[in-house]
Amino acid sequence: MIVKDKYFQIVDEVLKNDFSGKIAIDATIGNGHDTLKLLEVVGENGFVYGFDIQEMAINNTEKIISKKYNNYKLFLESHENIDLIESCDLIIYNLGYLPGSDKNKMTLAKSTLISLGKALKILNDKGIIIVVSYLGHENSKEEREAVDEFMKNINQKEFKVEKREFYNQKHNPPITYLIEKIGE
Ligand SMILES: C[S@@+](CC[C@H](N)C(=O)[O-])C[C@H]1O[C@@H](n2cnc3c(N)ncnc32)[C@H](O)[C@@H]1O
Repeated sequence: MIVKDKYFQIVDEVLKNDFSGKIAIDATIGNGHDTLKLLEVVGENGFVYGFDIQEMAINNTEKIISKKYNNYKLFLESHENIDLIESCDLIIYNLGYLPGSDKNKMTLAKSTLISLGKALKILNDKGIIIVVSYLGHENSKEEREAVDEFMKNINQKEFKVEKREFYNQKHNPPITYLIEKIGE
């Protein structure tokens, strides 16, 4: 498939690159599907950190990943504190709320921007940030606009930024932003 119509196909396309032995962060772990993907791509010599503000997310994710992996650490913390990690090569944000859980525990423009600002600083050369943004739930329009503006203003001498949208889909399809630190 060349043209994608689901956000996770874009994520999977990015994750086909070689991240073995790298440090990855899942900034919104939810039920841990992305955390698991990150653990798969970094392999046994890599390490994955995860952030979520819901204890349920930490517990659900721990259940899935602990069967097979031990090279991870999950924080019950806002991703505003992403700089607890000094440097990394790959970060994923799957914004919004976790379907089936408390809809009031959604990501918000202010904290998302604080986190993204810090994420750019801790990203190693050639590192990648994936941001999936949804519309339709409470506060989502404000977050989408803030994220879009943030992306537009990232210094092009330091980072490449790509915006992927499913142009003919109805009902607010997600937008996926890809950031790559150019480096040496
Ligand atoms: C769309 S879900 C993530 C889905 C997840 N990646 C998965 O694979 O299941 C968004 C998650 O962001 C979390 N969240 C909301 N605000 C947050 C914050 N400030 N820091 C970290 N996580 C946050 C929510 O609790 C929710 O679990």
